[in-house]
Amino acid sequence: MDSVNFEVHVERMIQLSKDKPLLPETYIPWDDEPNEDTLFMPEKLVSLEGHELWATLTRSQQIELGRLEVVQVMYSYAWSETLACYFFNRHLLKLNPDSIEYRFLIREIIEEFRHQEMFGMAIRKLDRKPILPTRLHHFFGNFTVKWLPSSLVFMSVLSVELMADIYAKHIRKDDKVFSVMRKSSELHHIEEGRHIFYTEAWLKKFTHNAGFFKASSYSIIVMLNVYFMRTLYVQKRFFEQMGVSDPDLYYREANQNYNKKFVEHALGATVEFVKSFNGFNWLTKPLWNWILKVKL
Ligand SMILES: [Fe+2]
Ligand SMILES: [Fe+2]
Repeated sequence: MDSVNFEVHVERMIQLSKDKPLLPETYIPWDDEPNEDTLFMPEKLVSLEGHELWATLTRSQQIELGRLEVVQVMYSYAWSETLACYFFNRHLLKLNPDSIEYRFLIREIIEEFRHQEMFGMAIRKLDRKPILPTRLHHFFGNFTVKWLPSSLVFMSVLSVELMADIYAKHIRKDDKVFSVMRKSSELHHIEEGRHIFYTEAWLKKFTHNAGFFKASSYSIIVMLNVYFMRTLYVQKRFFEQMGVSDPDLYYREANQNYNKKFVEHALGATVEFVKSFNGFNWLTKPLWNWILKVKL
């Protein structure tokens, strides 16, 4: 896309965001209630599903695990969007309020704040407590948004958005899942589509013709962000809470099972993005394979 077309497209996205705001308060049927068969996350995204231990759980334990894990997923996105907004504000300070970049980013911030509020409302509706990120997560999260150059932070934001968007797609398509989750995923999917388009196009000036060193460092940044988010999802405490006989074993197996499924269900768009700037080479391929189990 050339720069004239890009500007026309971004102007249209700004206008759309103003004319058709998707308000979580009204877009989502907050008064709906789940029944005992309602799922909270598609089963293929639940950590232990597909493993032989899955059959040892009762039906209500299986549903409960999905409920706990989707709360964790929503909490992780809310937190990462809070971090992203911190960075967007930092970035805005360098821009002219009249510029297209500033005007788009303002719309993105408005939407991201609404998303954070929406995730918080959904977590309250599901009535489960998320497990907060560790000190190490906080350290890396804060360090990234405060100190890394803009191109690398945009790269980090995009890698989380691509992943969140795949989750949203799976959730909103599954009829067995609770309406509150499906509608909030639908809202998120619509607005993230605009953010992803913008960020990918903005990053083109960095990724276009990136040499070996640059492409490798972008690839590694994306990989670390995915790894970072993935480590927030599966939690040992959930198995303790559910009262399984050996929480350590369940947790270990669930984690391994999930890491495999994650490649299949959540990384397609991310891998495509990294391919688009030749981010897989003799140095990065083994790292992706080792850390994320992505076979290239
Ligand atoms: Fe968002
Ligand atoms: Fe976004």
